[in-house]
Amino acid sequence: MRIAALLTAALLSPGLALAQVPASQAIPANQPIISDWARQQPVLAPNAMVASQEAMATRIGVDILKRGGNAVDAAVAVGFALAVTLPRAGNIGGGGFMLVYLKKENKTIAIDYREVAPASATKTMFLDAKGDADPKKSRETGLAIGVPGTVAGFALAHEKYGSGKFKLSELIGPAIALAENGIIVDEDLAESLPAARNRLAAWPSSAKIFLKPDGGPLMRGDRLVQSDLARTLSTIAAKGTKGFYEGPVAEKIVAAVNSAGGAMTMADLASYKVYEREPVRGTYRGFEVVSMPPPSSGGIHIIQILNMLEGYRLNEMGAHSADTLHVMTEAMKPAYADRSEYLGDPGFVQVPVKQLLSKKYAEARRAEIAMDKARPARDIKPGNLAPYESDQTTHYSIIDADGNAVANTYTLNFSYGVGMVAEGTGMLLNNELDDFAAKAGVPNGYGLIGGDANAPGPGKRPLSSMSPTIVLKDGKIYLVTGSPGGSRIITTVLQVISNVIDHGMNVQEAVSAPRIHHQWLPDELRIERGLSIDTVRILESRGHKIAVTPTSGSAQTIMVTPQGALAGAADTRQRGTLASGY
Ligand code: GLY
Repeated sequence: MRIAALLTAALLSPGLALAQVPASQAIPANQPIISDWARQQPVLAPNAMVASQEAMATRIGVDILKRGGNAVDAAVAVGFALAVTLPRAGNIGGGGFMLVYLKKENKTIAIDYREVAPASATKTMFLDAKGDADPKKSRETGLAIGVPGTVAGFALAHEKYGSGKFKLSELIGPAIALAENGIIVDEDLAESLPAARNRLAAWPSSAKIFLKPDGGPLMRGDRLVQSDLARTLSTIAAKGTKGFYEGPVAEKIVAAVNSAGGAMTMADLASYKVYEREPVRGTYRGFEVVSMPPPSSGGIHIIQILNMLEGYRLNEMGAHSADTLHVMTEAMKPAYADRSEYLGDPGFVQVPVKQLLSKKYAEARRAEIAMDKARPARDIKPGNLAPYESDQTTHYSIIDADGNAVANTYTLNFSYGVGMVAEGTGMLLNNELDDFAAKAGVPNGYGLIGGDANAPGPGKRPLSSMSPTIVLKDGKIYLVTGSPGGSRIITTVLQVISNVIDHGMNVQEAVSAPRIHHQWLPDELRIERGLSIDTVRILESRGHKIAVTPTSGSAQTIMVTPQGALAGAADTRQRGTLASGY
């Protein structure tokens, strides 16, 4: 009997047919193991597609595309909409990165609209009187708040790369309507509020929007009206970036930050700059991987890990086999060790980008990997154990009918950022400056450590893991992806790419498949539920310290099928995600 027929029989009659198949042939190479996540199908559309973390925002993007907008127009509309419908991560008070692929020019631009430390920032700003890192300062006070970049980033993207068919105000319009009329709190929003309740309750300006008069969070079915946010969005729609970085909105941001112990000025806001950067590029088994350069660490380390993995036949080793997961883990560790040492804002430090991306360097690091034994983190570089937080950034991917694409990841850092709405603006502010290394070797909120390269400083951008990524095949768009997840963004994007290229999964399977994560320190291999217990035991026998952790990331992804259709995958780890197209 042929293997395919045997597998079918095994599915119909578990325990019967597999026993008749020689063990080595039971699961053919290059086939994902049959499991729940390997039966999932993406959404298909012939022309254009949006995949985002919130359904209303996705529909707004699809509507813009149907009306002739390009991927950038849709990205701007989706981004403003998420500031209303996904308030824990969508934002105008934070920042992020947008990768824009322009089909006609065959060009990719990396737009850096990361938050910036104000001019008053110092290297010691997050230390206490004894010189120890004070996480309260870097996460819960006005000192934590970076100058927001989102509005400037979206405005630049629209002006330079939009289709010209829509005014900025038309792209903000749907968000204004949602904020003004209110949205019904769904399960996802309702589930996000209790964990943030105390941080929101600390600020009356936030409590009056997101909590009920009795102090409890809004619940499923309640209406969330954000009138102040609607007014702020209307000001931006009318005046462009000046409506945000100057005048009354800017004054309110400055007042809020300073009342919370920060030191931000009108000059800090007025001088905010978006950078268009050259993306980082690598190749993986004949595909081109294009991703975000510093101040993101994501693009560099995704390519670095892929370079190391290229030396293994992962397709023969099998999807989610102990061997595949072992080498993946061992490749992740040195990448995160390098991150802690070398990565920072390229305006302030020389990041050895070329070397980190080189195949030769990867070869040398690969040579340190033993197949039978996990390498303890202390042998790579010593450090401290660390806590880590859950996913609070958000990512969306878009491909338009002309083949242009956008991968956008943006954030407030923690869920609902610093928790404070700037009074009178309806806008939640970020606590992004916790992404700096408050003190060398002391972990940030994601357990990541760093040193001088990522020390706080005036006008400096904190190092990020956000990794909007585009994969090209023969010069044409193949995959658009990215994810939230703090330090786990890098490994999430890595595994989506590997699942598709190495294991031939369809894009929904690639997104849904269980993920692993190792970030060098703490020295533990985090796994999602869904791996076989046999695999876990083999990994343990090689010395991996396994920790089963909550879900990892939310990788809204689009892939171009061999037939030229668009396949969209919304990550089902979060409620409310939607891929939709036309
Ligand atoms: N705030 C998470 C990151 O930028 O990596």
